[in-house]
Amino acid sequence: MKRWIWLIALPFAACSASAPLPAVTEVVPADANPLSTIAPAQQPPSTTAGDERAAERLDMVEFQLAERDIADENVLEAMRQVPRHRFVPEDVVDLAYSDSALPIGYGQTISQPYIVGLMSQALDVDPGSKVLEIGTGSGYQAAVLAAMGCQVYTMEIIPELAERATNTLAETGYDATVANADGYFGWEEHAPFDGIIVTAAPDHVPQPLIDQLAPDAALVIPVGPIGAVQTMWKFSVNRTGEVTGENLGGVMFVPFTRSGE
Ligand SMILES: C[S@@+](CC[C@H](N)C(=O)[O-])C[C@H]1O[C@@H](n2cnc3c(N)ncnc32)[C@H](O)[C@@H]1O
Repeated sequence: MKRWIWLIALPFAACSASAPLPAVTEVVPADANPLSTIAPAQQPPSTTAGDERAAERLDMVEFQLAERDIADENVLEAMRQVPRHRFVPEDVVDLAYSDSALPIGYGQTISQPYIVGLMSQALDVDPGSKVLEIGTGSGYQAAVLAAMGCQVYTMEIIPELAERATNTLAETGYDATVANADGYFGWEEHAPFDGIIVTAAPDHVPQPLIDQLAPDAALVIPVGPIGAVQTMWKFSVNRTGEVTGENLGGVMFVPFTRSGE
């Protein structure tokens, strides 16, 4: 079991809202985590898919990310490459490169590009790192991590979204292993991870995710109440098992739901 040591609060310039510290509680899993890994429907086609909107992507990266505070060139280059418009539903495809979250069905969203950049940068991973994402949604964040050279595992609780994302990732040629499951318990079979990213907001930090971090790895996670401003945290575990938290600022995410809810 890793030990919680202290929390460091650092204001984040681009997110003005502040929020209280998360209630960090340990939760013992009540049951096993039934994972069903989804096989893609088809093989990846050519890597040139999506080039028709490349100019919009370059603008998105320059004006929404680099001109703010995303400086990690691996993140910026990945987001120049991944065709975001392939990951959004047809009715919002024109808005794919706008500076906002977009609906993807089932009451869920694809995150604002800036937030994808922020969380990817905060993970502080390298090509070859093994990363777990909780909240596959459209598959876009998973594709960005794959484009960064990471080995990506991603979990989605809504079966229809898990299946759609599996197919979109295959169609666009990004390699990620998708499971339709409640990500609360992480993915023990593939742990430890060099980074874990959670793209829905629980009201506390799931202890299994902390336990599945490799030494010096980070968990990037929004924590807070449903429908209000939450706090984006970066929790790191050092080699002696001490956990520290850094407040990255205020955010608003869809709720982290649980099986049976
Ligand atoms: C903001 S959306 C994710 C955006 C996604 N990363 C993308 O790139 O499109 C949050 C996702 O988390 C999923 N989710 C919520 N609670 C979950 C849980 N316990 N386990 C796995 N997925 C969960 C939701 O169904 C939703 O698809």
